[in-house]
Amino acid sequence: MDNNFAGSLIVFEGLDGSGTTTQAGLLADYLKEKGHEVLKVEEPGGTSLGRKVRDLLLEDHGMDIRPLSELFLYEVSRAQLVREKIIPELEKGNVIISDRFAASSVAYQGHGRGIPIDVVKRLNDIALNGVEPNATIFLDIDLEERERRGSGQKPDRIEKEAREFYRRVREGYLEEIRSMDEAVLIDGTLPKDEISRRVISELETELL
Ligand SMILES: Nc1ncnc2c1ncn2[C@@H]1O[C@H](COP(=O)(O)OP(=O)(O)OP(=O)(O)O)[C@@H](O)[C@H]1O
Ligand SMILES: [Mg+2]
Repeated sequence: MDNNFAGSLIVFEGLDGSGTTTQAGLLADYLKEKGHEVLKVEEPGGTSLGRKVRDLLLEDHGMDIRPLSELFLYEVSRAQLVREKIIPELEKGNVIISDRFAASSVAYQGHGRGIPIDVVKRLNDIALNGVEPNATIFLDIDLEERERRGSGQKPDRIEKEAREFYRRVREGYLEEIRSMDEAVLIDGTLPKDEISRRVISELETELL
């Protein structure tokens, strides 16, 4: 455990369409059934302010949001989420599951948009205020699988970016995940239930 809190922060990361929302939901259901108090949040979002910021980031409103501005918007959402929701839940001893967290900014705004990684990490550190995930689950899918899963849905602003962007994001994620000792990589192309079983078995010592 990295945090000096009674509770646990579990994070799901991965490319768009990798299944973070699906797996966050399955884990929350499982833990609730086991009697845990669980709060599920998403990034960007998770608070009223965060949801406003999420609309700015993901809606196709035609505004030209520059990379550094985009990073700051994510950090606004993150700073608010940490202080308003995550720290109080951890203090109460509850489990909080976040659908994306700080590693997303390293991968997307850092490796994807080209903002220096040390800049992204400095802002992450300020937003996080010492909070670290107890576990980060990275759901790895390749670019072809991302495109297959995305088809049929209206792409949001960020999903319209070129394949090259997602190649950098995936490589960035892999590098970042390798450097985090509480991170676990799971093959995101496995069936949903099999992934969920692997997630639960990875978290067994942490939570159960
Ligand atoms: N293991 C899986 N195998 C096949 N399809 C999956 C799997 N997990 C999720 N999916 C499907 O892929 C799509 C994306 O899943 P989900 O919304 O959970 O991903 P996400 O990472 O939250 O995506 P987004 O970045 O768009 O929020 C959905 O249609 C979902 O049913
Ligand atoms: Mg999702």
